[in-house]
Amino acid sequence: MAPSVSPHAPWWQSGILYQVYPRSFQDGDGDGIGDLRGVIARLHYLVDLGVDALWLSPIFTSPMVDFGYDISDYTDIDPLFGSLADFDALVTAAHGLGLKVVLDLVPNHTSDQHPWFVESRGSRDSRKRDWYIWRDGQPDGGPPNNWTSEFGGSAWTFDAATGQHYYHAFLSAQPDLNWRNPQVRQAIADVMRFWLRRGVDGFRVDVMWHLVKDADFRDNPLNPDYTPDRQPYERLLPLYSTDRPDVHDVVAELRQVMEAFDDRVLIGEIYLPPEKLVAYYGAGLKGAHLPFNFALISTPWSARAVGDLIARYEALLPSGAWPNWVLGNHDRVRIAGRVGPAQARVAAMLLLTLRGTPTMYYGDEIGLPQVPIAPEQVRDPFETNVPGYGVGRDGCRTPMQWDGSAHAGFTAGEPWLPLTDDFASRNVAVERSDSSSMLALYGALIALRRARAELSLGDYEEWPSGEADVLAYWRGHGGRRMLVVLNFSDRPVTIALPSSAAGATIMLSTMMDRAAEVAGDRLNLRGAEGMVLDLAPTAI
Ligand code: NOJ
Ligand code: MG
Repeated sequence: MAPSVSPHAPWWQSGILYQVYPRSFQDGDGDGIGDLRGVIARLHYLVDLGVDALWLSPIFTSPMVDFGYDISDYTDIDPLFGSLADFDALVTAAHGLGLKVVLDLVPNHTSDQHPWFVESRGSRDSRKRDWYIWRDGQPDGGPPNNWTSEFGGSAWTFDAATGQHYYHAFLSAQPDLNWRNPQVRQAIADVMRFWLRRGVDGFRVDVMWHLVKDADFRDNPLNPDYTPDRQPYERLLPLYSTDRPDVHDVVAELRQVMEAFDDRVLIGEIYLPPEKLVAYYGAGLKGAHLPFNFALISTPWSARAVGDLIARYEALLPSGAWPNWVLGNHDRVRIAGRVGPAQARVAAMLLLTLRGTPTMYYGDEIGLPQVPIAPEQVRDPFETNVPGYGVGRDGCRTPMQWDGSAHAGFTAGEPWLPLTDDFASRNVAVERSDSSSMLALYGALIALRRARAELSLGDYEEWPSGEADVLAYWRGHGGRRMLVVLNFSDRPVTIALPSSAAGATIMLSTMMDRAAEVAGDRLNLRGAEGMVLDLAPTAI
């Protein structure tokens, strides 16, 4: 079996990314909100865990209406998180420990407090008027077209002072920049260079598929599959407001900026079906290195659905494009909340044994659940604007739990979101001393992935297990093969192993209790058990 990529794969292919939501990772100053000093204090944890890079959600100057995704200064750090000096210290410390640092780049929109927008809304003749998207309303006073905001209501806000509407794909406090304006492209390229020169190793680009809108602002069509139980944004298909063909020129330009620097990564946040997602690798692979593949988040949790998804995605990947996988992030229900604690272990094994770069979400490695949020605890403006649909994101953003002390070691103050009720036992310190904990499982999976190129760089091939609830696949590299077997059901299943796997060694079980056992010709899997088997080297 030929290796899929060169042994000298870039770090973002062989490595593991870890998302830190800075408000919730570690508070260093007792205000109940995580900050950069806190992240610095926990870098050793990430090294011990074995990940290669941390991606920090936005830490820039912001009124925090959307918790940092509303930026009012792209080239400074919000005082809530620290200072530029703290940021430099973080990069230096991370690099000293062999960790890469990836920043969030939010080029689609700014805060309405950003000086660019303040100037733009100042008058119709402002030099920055065209930096944002201003349109006249309908003759009856209605908005320019039927586009809706992802966060509810019209995507247009009327500005009485100048008598026009501005477009915002999210909150009205987040006006969209006009990416058809070359000055905007230049300004964001300068922002990227500012951080790249400061040593950052790449960007995760917020809502990359939103960047370019239809030049004619045509109305979006109705979604024929809409049902009233779905959130209002889904009433229309965002055909003209997102994923326009010319977005790929913009992505290629962003990539071009990165190319002047060595070894950096461009990641795109893109919620599109795999068929459309793969276009973001760009012509000649000159687009995003890693268009985030979120399909596992929305695919039903069954062996067949996940197996089919992997096959579909693998088949769609352009030649030479490197895959990637994600189980969750700060916008989606936590994996343990979605599939339950037992299957969350299967999900961990899946994520860390698939072909392609895995991105972990902080806290999943200790099995943080989706935390219930009482009405008075709601902080997320999405929930406030669109109540009743379960869209709130606070429950997946709760503080990291480090130990059993007050506030789980996250803060000396009052945490901005609640902890889990069981934080005294669900925390890093306790799980470190429990050899069968979720943290122990993550640690073992990461160590195995690091040790064995089959798992990081190897080929993927599904092996039909003959059991509807069991997904099994080979990973091969340099003449060595491993077999991954995952039981998606909660009942025991016995599978007949392929003859080539007879005598294989169990490297790891999700139950953490069968390492080094030699498998016979049948394999008994307990409910929600996954295993990685090591095969004797094969001849090529
Ligand atoms: C995507 C981010 O991940 C999300 O948290 C944010 O609310 C929207 N972009 C708007 O910036
Ligand atoms: Mg703080």
